[in-house]
Formats: sequence, structure tokens, C-alpha cells
Amino acid sequence: MRDDPIGVFDSGVGGLNVLKECAELLPCEKFIYLADEANMPYGNKTYAEIKYLAEKCAATLFAMNCKAVVVACNTATVTAVDGIRKLFGSRIVVGLEPAVKPCYRELGKNGYAVALVTDATYRSYKFERLLQTCENKIIPIARPELARLIENHADDISAVETHVFDILADHKNAEAVILGCSHYTYITDIIRKFYGGSVKIYDGAHGAAERLKYCLALSDLFTDSTDMQNKIRFYSTRG
Ligand code: DGL
Repeated sequence: MRDDPIGVFDSGVGGLNVLKECAELLPCEKFIYLADEANMPYGNKTYAEIKYLAEKCAATLFAMNCKAVVVACNTATVTAVDGIRKLFGSRIVVGLEPAVKPCYRELGKNGYAVALVTDATYRSYKFERLLQTCENKIIPIARPELARLIENHADDISAVETHVFDILADHKNAEAVILGCSHYTYITDIIRKFYGGSVKIYDGAHGAAERLKYCLALSDLFTDSTDMQNKIRFYSTRG
């Protein structure tokens, strides 16, 4: 089992950044990346739909003998990670959480941050509860169209610059931006440009990779293999 791959999934290209963090932190491991592009975007779907799709992705990856699954999607994590853990009992399942707590801890006394999230994350009880612990210093912004726009322009991300500038227009004084959707890592440079470089940007990808490493260590599941062939395999539900 130690030499089995680690499964990582998202609705599309967003989770690739999480995969990169995991692969950098665990350079000897093998990975399978599953993009559920046929059902993208998750963020505009009902909880029941997201739960069904995310459980299906996890089941696909475990059926491919993955020793662990990383839910590289904030929306699927907030909606479905508990259900996936219930379904797969003792298996390792790591979620992607918006980095709200680290951001809040590091905010200046009078500073505030904006958290960019999908509609489903915005509507979730878990996210609402998380924000309640931050004295209203984290302002959530849900944009139902943004993940799809990014997915479509991932190769030419400057095409979404004006759109992102419009979203941030009312928040010129924000001290930090939380990327609460894995797709939003693609617009990191655009956000920096908007703030003239003077903004802190938080995302949960590194935290998820650290968590994965911790879980593998706990279960004594680090690979012994030095075989680097097929290090990362990519699959899409679009075929
Ligand atoms: N990448 C997903 C997330 O992290 C959502 C994108 C989508 O709406 O499909 O929330």
C-alpha cells in the first residue's frame, strides 16, 4: 500500500496548485489527478449535487488504489469532506480549507481582509461559523462566475484582469485577500497588481499538503519506492 499513489481531485484546473504543493513536499510519492470537468463549476450547484459528485470522485480514486485522497477544492471540502470520510472509514482524506484563521491572526489591529469564495462555500454553515470567529474582519465575496472564467482562461489569465479589478474595486483598503477557491490561485498576480504589491495573499494549498504529509506519517504510509515513472497521471471526467 505504501507505494500506491495519492489521489487529488477538483472540479477542474484549480486543484493543480494543491497537487504541486503536495508533489513538492512529498517528492517520492506518485499522484493521480482527477478533474471533474464534466461537472464544473461545483460552486453553483446544490449541496446534494456537490456531495454526490465529490463522493464519486473520491470513490473513483480509491478504486484506482489510491492510499489517500486530497479534496483539492474548497467547495467540495466544505460540503462533502465529512461524507467522504464517513463513506471511506479508515482511509486518509484531506480537505482544502480557506486560510481564514492564519489570515485573521496576522491582520493588523484595524486591518481587514476579503475572502473570495464560490457561491456554495459562501452559503455553507461551516464557512459562516468560521467567519464568526473573526470579529467581522474578514469580508466574504462570492462570485458565481469567477471559477468558470478562470477555468476557461487558465492559459491566458490576463483576460480576466478587468473582471478581477472590478470585484476588488470596493476593497482598495483591504490588508489581505484569502483565496477561498482553488481556482483563484491563478489570479494571484492580478490581485498583487491591483494592490500594487502591498497585499498579503493566503491560500490553503500548502496547509493541505502539510496535512497530507502528517497523515501519511501517522499511518506509516510514505513510499519506499524510488521509481519515478508515471509520477503524476491526469484524468478528466470529460474524457
Ligand atoms: N475549485 C473549486 C473550489 O476550490 C470550485 C470551482 C467550481 O466552482 O467548480 O472551491
